This record gives sequence, C-alpha cells and structure tokens, in this order.
Amino acid sequence: MDPETDAHLRIGFIGAGNMAFGIAKGIISGNVLPANIKVSAPSKRNFGRFQEIGIAGTNSNVELVCGSDIVFVAVKPHLVREVLNGISPYITDRHIVVSVAAGVTLETLQELLPENTSVIRLMPNLPCIVQEGALLFTRGSCAKPADGALLRSLLQHCGLVEEGPEAWLDIHTGLSGSGVAFVYLFAEALAEGAIKMGMPSSLAHTIASQTVLGAGRVLRDSGKHPAQLRSEVCTPGGTTIYGLHTLEQGGVRASTMSAVESATERARQLGQKSTTRK
Ligand SMILES: NC(=O)c1ccc[n+]([C@@H]2O[C@H](COP(=O)([O-])OP(=O)(O)OC[C@H]3O[C@@H](n4cnc5c(N)ncnc54)[C@H](OP(=O)(O)O)[C@@H]3O)[C@@H](O)[C@H]2O)c1
Repeated sequence: MDPETDAHLRIGFIGAGNMAFGIAKGIISGNVLPANIKVSAPSKRNFGRFQEIGIAGTNSNVELVCGSDIVFVAVKPHLVREVLNGISPYITDRHIVVSVAAGVTLETLQELLPENTSVIRLMPNLPCIVQEGALLFTRGSCAKPADGALLRSLLQHCGLVEEGPEAWLDIHTGLSGSGVAFVYLFAEALAEGAIKMGMPSSLAHTIASQTVLGAGRVLRDSGKHPAQLRSEVCTPGGTTIYGLHTLEQGGVRASTMSAVESATERARQLGQKSTTRK
C-alpha cells in the first residue's frame, strides 16, 4: 500500500473506549497524522487520552462520519444498531465502515447501512494497546480486496493482521480475544505457585509476567511448534518434565481446549442474538 494514501486518509472512531484507543495508537505509529483522526462519544470523559496523542473528540457521530473516509464502529455490541441507524443517512460510497463489535454479523451490519456500503468486520484484541494485538478481519460482500489491503496497511502497527472467513471470527474471539484472559489466569497461577513456595508476591508476579512475555516472543519469533520448544526445555529426569506431568494430571490441556470451545460457542450465541434482534 502506498504510504502516501494512508497519510491522507481521514479516520473516525465512533466510541472512545479501550479498543478504539488501542487501534488509534497503532494507526498513528504508521503514516497517519493524528490530525486526520477523530473520535466521537456521547460524553467527553474518555477524550483526555486521545487528546494527549493529538486526536480530537466530538459528541456528534454524524459530524465524525461526514469528515471521515474510514469509520471504525467501536461501541458495545448492543449499541451498534442505534449508532448505525443514526449515521446511515450520511454514509456514501467513499466510506469504508469497519465494525469491531463482538458478535455483530456482517449480515446485520450490511442490513443497517445503505446498499453497496463497503463493510468490514474486524476482531482485534486488547494487546493492540501495546502494538502486539492479534487481529482478524472479514470483508463484506461490497468491500473490495483493495479495501482489505488498505485496512491491513493501516493496522500493520497494531500487531498481527490476518484476513479470513466470517466463521473464523468467533473462533478468533475464543482463541485470542478471550485467550488473553486465559493467559492472565495462567500467569497468576504461576506466580501463586512461587508464592506458595516462599517467594515474595511482587517478585513472583514480575517474574511470571516476564516468563509469559519471553515464552511468547520465542514461540512467535522462532516459528517452531510449541511441542518442539517444550521438549527442548525438558531434560530427561529434570524439573520441567516433573512439572509438566503434574499439569497433565490436572487436565490443563483439555480444560484450555474446552475454554476456547466455550468462548467460541458463546460468541456464536451472542452473534445469533444480534442477528435476530430486529
Ligand atoms: N475490549 C476488548 O478486548 C475487545 C476485543 C474485541 C472487540 N471488542 C469490541 O470493541 C467494542 C468496544 O469495546 P470497548 O471495550 O472499547 O468498550 P468501552 O471501553 O466500554 O467503550 C465504549 C465507548 O462507546 C461510547 N459510546 C456509547 N454510546 C455511544 C454512542 N451512541 N455513540 C458513540 N459512542 C458511544 C462510550 O462513550 P463514553 O466515553 O461517553 O462512555 C465509550 O467511549 C465492543 O463492541 C467490543 O465487543 C472489544
């Protein structure tokens, strides 16, 4: 993508919450100037941190839409219908509308916007805030491959960006959106194990978070399968294989797989509710 194209795009965020902030931060670390980004929300209470990075706020979604080429819809899923009804008369064929609302399907989004609108459904996760997100998007029937390429280029500093079929978005929600919390739970348990064995709490938590970070970076950067990395840490008869045996006895693998499965099923259920609620 031509960096000059990104530089002149005007980008709007409807909703000034954590997700909008994380994505906006990633976008401005690319070629887009903060002056070309705007955010809208009913109150001013979340505008402070956007203003600190040079992004202006407005209380009018319509004003935001009229001054933007790409509009991110970053409000809670139950508000999407009301928000899209309000902006729909102002959406033209120059706009690309990108929804990050969990569970709100492309079918629902397209139905609420004018025919032929370029709509993209994006599932980010919270580590976008430190430019280490995992983002998956699906183009609606009127979004061209070039629209997807433009979005990919804009989001490249938010973390990993992939495109896939809509059915994978709910799986991505279970794996990565909710997966972040599963990793936190594991980090907490690691630290608590160390506390039980006598290490001071703050040091145990600091070392647990560094362990999760280090393991994650090696896993991503080496490109190796996790089983291979795991076996490389296991000395025969050593400490790690003893610990792994205990984890397997506790069913950690099966319960983690089930956690991704339940979170995915829940995302599907919520999506069905959003589709049937007319
Ligand atoms: N957080 C995550 O990890 C995550 C991951 C993937 C997807 N998502 C999706 O991202 C979306 C936003 O989540 P979030 O965690 O960022 O939410 P959030 O922190 O609660 O922020 C929601 C924002 O929406 C604003 N808002 C409420 N009504 C509005 C309206 N009518 N017009 C314009 N703005 C309005 C709120 O305004 P005020 O500032 O005035 O309160 C607030 O700024 C959700 O749909 C969620 O499913 C979140």
